[in-house]
Amino acid sequence: MNLATVILAAGQGKRMKSSKPKVLHPILGKPMLWYIIQVANQVTQRKTIVVVGHKPDLIKETFNESALFVPQKEQLGTGHAVLQTEPLLKGKVDFVLVTYGDMPLLRERTLWKLIDSKPNPSQPITMLTVFMDDPHGFGRIIRDDNGDVHAIVEEAQATQKQREIKELNAGVYVFNAEWLWDALPKITLSPKGEYYLTDLIGIAIEQGKSIKAIPVEDTQEVIGVNTRVHLAEVSSIIQARINRKWMLDGVTITNPDSTTIEPTVSIGQDTTILPNTFLQGDTRIGENCVIGPNSIVDNTKIGRNCIIRASVLEGAILEDNVDIGPFGHLRRGAHLAKGVHMGNFGEVKDSHLGEGTKMGHFSYIGNATIGKNVNIGAGTITCNYDGKQKNPTEIGDDVFIGSDTMLVAPIKLGDGAHTGAGSVVTKDIAEYMLAVGIPARAIRKINPEEKSSVKNEKKDG
Ligand code: UD1
Ligand code: CA
Repeated sequence: MNLATVILAAGQGKRMKSSKPKVLHPILGKPMLWYIIQVANQVTQRKTIVVVGHKPDLIKETFNESALFVPQKEQLGTGHAVLQTEPLLKGKVDFVLVTYGDMPLLRERTLWKLIDSKPNPSQPITMLTVFMDDPHGFGRIIRDDNGDVHAIVEEAQATQKQREIKELNAGVYVFNAEWLWDALPKITLSPKGEYYLTDLIGIAIEQGKSIKAIPVEDTQEVIGVNTRVHLAEVSSIIQARINRKWMLDGVTITNPDSTTIEPTVSIGQDTTILPNTFLQGDTRIGENCVIGPNSIVDNTKIGRNCIIRASVLEGAILEDNVDIGPFGHLRRGAHLAKGVHMGNFGEVKDSHLGEGTKMGHFSYIGNATIGKNVNIGAGTITCNYDGKQKNPTEIGDDVFIGSDTMLVAPIKLGDGAHTGAGSVVTKDIAEYMLAVGIPARAIRKINPEEKSSVKNEKKDG
């Protein structure tokens, strides 16, 4: 099936009252236009073509390789917009599917229904129609005495009687390509000064041809976004669709209305998402985790059996069995190995925490490489910034950092090193040495057996 998909998106979208082109307004982290490009790319082997007019370069930059962009310099109507794709498509395809950039809810299966009708020279157009109680803003479908589609009348041109018609033009069509290129130049200027694509229906009828009209099953699919009120409505419908998909795939979402999962996220089976949680960007969550409530997880990979409570995770990696929160903050480059525990008010950035390491309370770890089974006492801070640059901290395995220790980077603590509460560490500490004070000085060697019973220190504190 040699079919091209064309998305009309040249309009500015004045009613959005925005300096941004309408189709770039985000819905769950992706521009509105992204959704229809995804669907259109599913039904064609060719790259989807998007007709752009307002800030075309900005739109192109946003999508670069996922579609082809054709400029329409002046917005002279939907018919004129389709005509801009002729040089690219004439003689190359048998069918042309046309739809709009501001209808992000259209489903692939609806497009297939139109495509499967395979319009031919005697029935050159298949169009999608919709029945709505409030027909405002749509072209009305005029049927003849036999019930066949006879014309589309735009609202501006409709008589009082025609305005009452509730069967409407959704704005999705599949054309027989050969007929389309022949008919498009026959469209005449409307009283509004536009070339209406919808005039093609009348042109076909005059030529004695028939039109196939297929009603959409789910009227939500053809909601077009014209204002930010529609943007919010469409967002919540997409949110509901995504959440439903994950629930059917084995994810528990206790309150879907307050759970936002962007379309780029993936979640493993038997994971539970608690209310007021936002899963964003390229986030991947493994099986059997509990995420939320009140959490934001952005561009983060989470292994299996992890617990994330009331925390913000951005650009981080968590291996299996990690637990965080409440009120943890992982920033870009944070990597928590298997079984890491991070309690309340911790922040980790650009650092690796080894397997089994614990960081219970009120700590900042930045630009650090930390070994296995390290105890990071309450209030520990890596002083990684000297006012000019970020300096590294290296901590070996089985290190015990006393509460309120300041680690003035660059600094190294050997395996099994200990610090006393309140120490300010400015010099490296050798393996199994205990250092205390301000500035910290090494006072004695630690017997590896006694590592968790240093005076004035409590494990995990
Ligand atoms: C259009 C249909 C109407 C249908 C309705 C469904 C026409 C003449 N009318 O009306 O029958 O019921 O959609 O939503 O087609 N665009 C361009 N270039 C242009 C003009 C428009 O790319 O020169 C794009 C717009 O960006 C938009 C789409 O085409 O995405 C529809 O244009 P719009 O002016 O909103 O048409 P409607 O008045 O909604
Ligand atoms: Ca519109």
